[in-house]
Amino acid sequence: MHFTNMTAKLLACASLVAAFPHTTSPVEKRYTEDEILKALAGTYSLINTTSALNGNPIPDEAYGAAPVGLLIYTASGWMSATITATEPEFRPNLTFPYQPNDTDADWAAVGRHSIGYAGPLRLSDAIPANETNGQVFHGPLTVANVPTWVGASHRRNYTVVEDGGETFLRIGSERGGGYTGALWWKKIKEE
Ligand SMILES: *[C@@H]1O[C@H](CO)[C@@H](O)[C@H](O)[C@H]1NC(C)=O
Ligand SMILES: *[C@@H]1O[C@H](CO)[C@@H](O)[C@H](O)[C@H]1NC(C)=O
Ligand SMILES: *[C@@H]1O[C@H](CO)[C@@H](O)[C@H](O)[C@H]1NC(C)=O
Ligand SMILES: *[C@@H]1O[C@H](CO)[C@@H](O)[C@H](O)[C@H]1NC(C)=O
Ligand SMILES: *[C@@H]1O[C@H](CO)[C@@H](O)[C@H](O)[C@H]1NC(C)=O
Repeated sequence: MHFTNMTAKLLACASLVAAFPHTTSPVEKRYTEDEILKALAGTYSLINTTSALNGNPIPDEAYGAAPVGLLIYTASGWMSATITATEPEFRPNLTFPYQPNDTDADWAAVGRHSIGYAGPLRLSDAIPANETNGQVFHGPLTVANVPTWVGASHRRNYTVVEDGGETFLRIGSERGGGYTGALWWKKIKEE
């Protein structure tokens, strides 16, 4: 009799665990990709960038000291990012399309100190995600000025911070070879 009782209790316990297979607590809300993309959706303006190699801060050679940028996330799962340096030496006064008398050096400076890409925005399941913390993929990218980025998917950690009535988005990236970057954005428009 005692034995059967114990077995019944163990079975009840096991079915409880089965009902909440991935959460530590049944009250913790699970967020769907749709809910998270809806929360992140908007237009963001770049505030600052920092780079590190193996955790040690290094100058941001590509973006310079005062980059400008816009990041657009849509609730339907698309993204676009454009960032350029602002230092005059990185921004020769070129026009588009290129002119026969433009120098390659001027165009090289522009190319080295700017980036633009767009494509799908997807939620990653590598880490637990909610409306303020998690990981997304930019990609597979549809278009990018850097040729090898077309078709690539880039992992980005996101953290949403509310401060002084403003919404900030911190995007963390791993760039390979121990290089990491953190970009802070301010939401300037809800979608
Ligand atoms: C970047 O901006 C964020 C948000 O305003 C701020 O918390 C952070 O300290 C800034 N980082 C640097 C390196 O200026
Ligand atoms: C840069 O180029 C534009 C377009 O050709 C021209 O209007 C402007 O005066 C130029 N500025 C400088 C600082 O050369
Ligand atoms: C390039 O050519 C245009 C006319 O086609 C001229 O206005 C401009 O000054 C030239 N720029 C340089 C750097 O020589
Ligand atoms: C989202 O996740 C982070 C990190 O796991 C946690 O600190 C935060 O409290 C969560 N926020 C909500 C609203 O669940
Ligand atoms: C992203 O988050 C994961 C899990 O917390 C962490 O291991 C990784 O270092 C983070 N990457 C960046 C670039 O912040």
